[in-house]
Amino acid sequence: MNRRQFLAQSIGTALALGWVARTPVHAESMPMDHSMHMMHGGDAPAMPAMAMPDMPMMNPAGIDLTKLKSGEPLKAFTPIVFNQGKADLMIQPTEQVWLKSGSSTPLWGYSSAGNSLIDATEGDTLSINVMNHLPEDTTVHWHGVDVPSDQDGHPHMPIASNQSHTYQFTLPADSAGTYWYHPHPHKRTSFQAAQGLAAPIIIRSKNDPLTALNIPEQLLFFTAPELDAEGKIAPISMSEQMNGRIGNVVLVNGQYQPVLTVAPNSMHRLRLVNATNARYLRLSFGKTAMVQVGTDGGLLTKPLAPQTELLLAPAERAEVCVTFTEATTLQALYYDKGWMGGGMGWSEPKSDQTHLLAIQLSGDAATPPKLPEQLRPIQALGEPKVTRQFVLGEKMAMSMENGKHSMTMDFLINDKAFDMKRIDFTAKANEVELWEIINNTDMDHPFHIHGSQFQVVSIEENGKVTDFPYLAWKDTVNTKKGQTVRLKIMQDLKGLRMYHCHVLEHEDLGMMGQYNVL
Ligand code: C2O
Ligand code: CU
Ligand code: CU
Repeated sequence: MNRRQFLAQSIGTALALGWVARTPVHAESMPMDHSMHMMHGGDAPAMPAMAMPDMPMMNPAGIDLTKLKSGEPLKAFTPIVFNQGKADLMIQPTEQVWLKSGSSTPLWGYSSAGNSLIDATEGDTLSINVMNHLPEDTTVHWHGVDVPSDQDGHPHMPIASNQSHTYQFTLPADSAGTYWYHPHPHKRTSFQAAQGLAAPIIIRSKNDPLTALNIPEQLLFFTAPELDAEGKIAPISMSEQMNGRIGNVVLVNGQYQPVLTVAPNSMHRLRLVNATNARYLRLSFGKTAMVQVGTDGGLLTKPLAPQTELLLAPAERAEVCVTFTEATTLQALYYDKGWMGGGMGWSEPKSDQTHLLAIQLSGDAATPPKLPEQLRPIQALGEPKVTRQFVLGEKMAMSMENGKHSMTMDFLINDKAFDMKRIDFTAKANEVELWEIINNTDMDHPFHIHGSQFQVVSIEENGKVTDFPYLAWKDTVNTKKGQTVRLKIMQDLKGLRMYHCHVLEHEDLGMMGQYNVL
């Protein structure tokens, strides 16, 4: 093996130097003369024709948004019918009609009709028989729900094409909240989610203080496909591998710019789910305030102060109560998560869509109730027995062999890319640990841990440590570029657990680890 690695550095640095990368990730077929271009960088010619057909450098022009149907009443997800705790999930190719022309977009779904809601109650035992009718392996991961390791749908338990598998678990006490399920196969998570596989889970409690208010509840499940000019799901480009698939269309419950009609002055409980591959959602109803009452793992101890915007990183959820006194729109405001490749002409696409959902008023005015002062008790996790550090990083490397070169792009934790065969460390069940997530990269990364909800303790930025302002259960926390986020976690179930960046492209490129809870 005569393989010589001649460049390995952080992706950010490589791009800042004007080093123009033109090869697909992990592709090994570029002729030598092009690699010389790469070394020159700087005044590079326009986008070359070297991209492999299945891995464009950047996205070609996408759908003209005026071609999409909009303004239809917001739909609710169909709940899956459980018969004595049992249900079937048929993962299969399906399609949706998003275009006014009536032409459809081929997708993958959890049923022939699209994706359905799991709506269940704490203590329920669910037995879900999954049939994989996709042409490749998949798994179903119940994001945020504390299920046993062997029911978690992690990449070690793939369901082969045309095979079935039954997941069974009991929804834990005190787990009421909003979750979601999505695929988690080795290196294919981002692709499969981009084909449409993502669906909501609501776990209810028998004594939810907000249920007593008798206010309407609405699930808002956000996804962000990248549609090409014909309205088909575009292949994931190299720029998207780096920056994540942020998508060119943001859908609410699978619809483009739908309308929710509410009574004037009515208060609504909204369950917000960011089920996009990689898009940060800085949500706002304009001057209509949101009162946050819940996070990833369910209700807070008490409602937070009203706020006019809320940042939902990929995979995060929030519950808010909103009183609509006037017609408004739910918007996604610009959020600077950091962008790589601008120097190479892969600049951040400017989103044409900020309007996600219209709120219309109709009917008799309601009288909004007063929110309870206490929502539920949350026990603060005690003194940690162990402290661990997780340094997020990136690396781009080039190598040459027989006049051909290849480029690899890795997203790393503690300098290592994910390896199915490597257990990164072991931990003890029922022991509190302090995890420090150190983001040394040029981008935000949403950090997620399987198996247990955790509590964010503090956030450090420019040497200044700020205590996290409230107690909350979370399974995903955003780490902004340059920040160190500290959290406490205690796993109470034994077994293998993954932790990773929830920009699914980064997860697939290696920003993931696994540990064994003993
Ligand atoms: Cu939602 Cu390991 O993922
Ligand atoms: Cu998860
Ligand atoms: Cu990431």
